[in-house]
Amino acid sequence: MPATVVVGTQWGDEGKGRFTDLLAKDMDLVVRYQGGHNAGHRIVVGGEAFSLQLVPSGVLYPHTIPVIGNGVVVDPTVLVAECEALEARGVDTSRLVVSGNAHLIMPYHYELDRATERSLGKNKLGTTKRGIGPAYADKAARIGLRIQDLLDPKIFRQKLDVVLREKNAVLAKVFNRLALDGEEIAQLYLGEIAPRVAPMIADTVTLIHDALDAGKQVMLEGAQATFLDLDHGTYPYVTSSNPTAGGACVGSGIGPREITRVVGIAKAYVTRVGAGPFPSEVDGAIADQLVERGHEYGTNTGRRRRPGWLDLVMLRHAVRLNSVSEIALTKLDVLSSLSALRLCVAYEADGERLDKVPYHQSVLHRVRPIYEELAGWSEDLTGVTSVERLPRAAREYIARIEQAVGVPVTFAAVGPDRDQYVSFAA
Ligand code: IMP
Repeated sequence: MPATVVVGTQWGDEGKGRFTDLLAKDMDLVVRYQGGHNAGHRIVVGGEAFSLQLVPSGVLYPHTIPVIGNGVVVDPTVLVAECEALEARGVDTSRLVVSGNAHLIMPYHYELDRATERSLGKNKLGTTKRGIGPAYADKAARIGLRIQDLLDPKIFRQKLDVVLREKNAVLAKVFNRLALDGEEIAQLYLGEIAPRVAPMIADTVTLIHDALDAGKQVMLEGAQATFLDLDHGTYPYVTSSNPTAGGACVGSGIGPREITRVVGIAKAYVTRVGAGPFPSEVDGAIADQLVERGHEYGTNTGRRRRPGWLDLVMLRHAVRLNSVSEIALTKLDVLSSLSALRLCVAYEADGERLDKVPYHQSVLHRVRPIYEELAGWSEDLTGVTSVERLPRAAREYIARIEQAVGVPVTFAAVGPDRDQYVSFAA
């Protein structure tokens, strides 16, 4: 059976969690393929909010197997804490499996993330300070520790000894920070954490392939988003993994021919956290309205997100980069009561009109958005569940998006709850 990828098409926080949750209803396996607990997927079920960082959204359905794939970086202390918190609220996490090849986030990764951000000063990236970048850097440098190392204390200690010598030297000599104690780390990871994580470790590649071979439904759940992608995002203001759909193959261990559906999640406007270019960014009263009505504060970090109008240039690019086959639009209700709406349809730079994202990022930093103005609507959408009951202006807004990006909008969310959405599917 084919696999479905769910991917963010903007700078993250599009509301992927609520759609992965919705789609998970029909899935047998839900697989996270990259990122770590820098993600914060918020799902509201019957008015009760769940914030998931590492555990795939499918955990909330008793019939899905949630899988943490090989491409994810895992702080096992966070994993254990998140499972305990879910269990305390009556959610069964016993089906959760974790790839033995997933890399571990270690205490020195946090130290290095924080120290690097501090030393970058005004050029800092605005990371989540969860050690994500340093963990992926070690993976690429081939000095990372993996989940499976938790099963072999001798190997774990050997690797830790070697790597900690280097990390402590950097922390002390470059950043003037205190050295970390290897024994303390080993005791925490091997003594307390390993026994809790060991039962979750599995050969996830075989599990996923067996499921596909048996005709089961597999969903690959992206975290962060297209323009935070290490290769295709606004580098260096990106995360250190590949959220784009190609990353779903690498981070789960399947080939591209298994994927037949790619759902691109797009917020009805755009937000971004952290630094980096943002052509359609707005400020003033409209910004305040989007932030307050849309509760645009980080699920994890509480940071205020930067808001802007929907950027169709970037959305078109995201559709190409990910082979998006349909778009699920989120937070349409937040736009209610704005008298006029804007869509960024192209950019202008150096007297020229640009219809595509410029490949030279210095240009992207100075482009000016070219907007098309559309009528707004005053109606509250939060109770709307059918296309016919959407105000005409809202339908026109959606139709203009479809026309600009060339793929259909199949869902529009009109509120945070699991059931607050409109389906356009025939
Ligand atoms: P890192 O992933 O913590 O290294 O942060 C790198 C960049 O990605 C920063 O600009 C973060 O704000 C951004 N980022 C990381 N995770 C998320 C997310 O889940 N939503 C939105 N932005 C994120």
